[in-house]
Amino acid sequence: MSFFEHRDGILHAEGVALPAIADAVGTPVHIYSAGALRHAANAFTSALRDLPSARFAFAVKANPNSAVLRLLARCGYGADIVSGGELRRALDAGIAASDIVFSGVGKTDRELIDGLEAGIGQFNLELEEEGRVLAQLARVRQMHAPAVLRVNPDVDGGTHAKITTGKRASKFGVDIADAPDIYARLVQLDGLDLQGIALHIGSQISDLTPLEAAYRRIGALVFELRARGHTITRVDLGGGLGVAYRPEDKMPSLSDYAAMVSRVTRDWNVSLTFEPGRVITGLAGVLLTRVIWVKPGATHPFVIVDAAMNDLARPALYDAYHHFSAVRPDGRTMVANIAGPVCETGDMFGVDRPIDHVGRGDLAVFHATGAYGAAMASSYNSRPVSPQVMVDGDTFELVGDRLAPCDVTTRSEREPRTAYRAHNTPVRQVA
Ligand code: LLP
Repeated sequence: MSFFEHRDGILHAEGVALPAIADAVGTPVHIYSAGALRHAANAFTSALRDLPSARFAFAVKANPNSAVLRLLARCGYGADIVSGGELRRALDAGIAASDIVFSGVGKTDRELIDGLEAGIGQFNLELEEEGRVLAQLARVRQMHAPAVLRVNPDVDGGTHAKITTGKRASKFGVDIADAPDIYARLVQLDGLDLQGIALHIGSQISDLTPLEAAYRRIGALVFELRARGHTITRVDLGGGLGVAYRPEDKMPSLSDYAAMVSRVTRDWNVSLTFEPGRVITGLAGVLLTRVIWVKPGATHPFVIVDAAMNDLARPALYDAYHHFSAVRPDGRTMVANIAGPVCETGDMFGVDRPIDHVGRGDLAVFHATGAYGAAMASSYNSRPVSPQVMVDGDTFELVGDRLAPCDVTTRSEREPRTAYRAHNTPVRQVA
């Protein structure tokens, strides 16, 4: 089912023609389809419905927009967070603290305290010392922090190197070989309520084989821990399922994923948590942009659009492919390099790519930008952070403002007030 389709020659998001959005809020703009979000959210939970006590925590990093979080909360999702900022966003969107899972390899004491005081449902511990610090912070508050230990299963997710997390050399989790001893020490700590294991081996995973291998290793660990006398009630299987960015991409179906999970975890006797991100929001967003110039190039012309790497960093960071199409295609095609205006050679969305024919002033979209799109935006080159719009049926709403650092200087830039003397220690603030 597609929520972004051409009708009468004009690309629509649900019932809204995209030029109407460009007229109302300008370009570039991130556009989400509420229908597509609901569809993906419900497809994921219904595929896994038959598992005993599955819990769904949307990976907020994929799309932290409040309107998106509120919509997903209504579909039964909690939140998987990795920072104090994401904690605030999840709580502000009305997600119950008990439905929040705190992942993240470098949680500060402040973030641990904020999570504790909010009463979140699960801390995913990344190292033994974090467990000790959390236990201590909980003890002084007469609390017991619910936690699981994140284990690195040493399985290659087979995805881009920069988004692979489950290999032994990566910074995430504790080595699976050390996990039983670390678990045994942590479980004794007063203040910590250690309940099980978590893993996450990477993102944009296109093959179930590594996921299954990782889950099996975790299953073996669950039985080993039980054999050592521990009570294991929770396993967090992380996120990672990929989406089809190219028309020809083949991704595992949700039913194949669910069948694999059910087969592998059948006798674990735990409650499972899932932390999907991309698979929920990825295909539910597009980035609408306008062609500024078509500039002659050595081999092919450069289609220079008003969106750039600060709006969509994935191509520059991971050589990621985002399909490009004209909002009003005229039937002709061209081969072009698609570039943003940022002053970096890497600000390219496509090289030597066959695309719909476009000219100066035309509207076009990058597809599948609903995950890690606006979420990774910056104001590099003092460009505004683009606005975000949610379409629902035949209406649309602005759900994120254009933030314009080029128009605004911060107070400290305008009138430096806070000076610090650093020659002597301690550092002193001077008037
Ligand atoms: N859980 C944990 C602990 C994670 O680190 C992540 C993603 C997820 C869940 C959600 O993974 P997903 O279902 O979305 O694959 N910026 C990159 C992706 C980074 C993913 C980081 N961790 C990109 O644009 O491809």
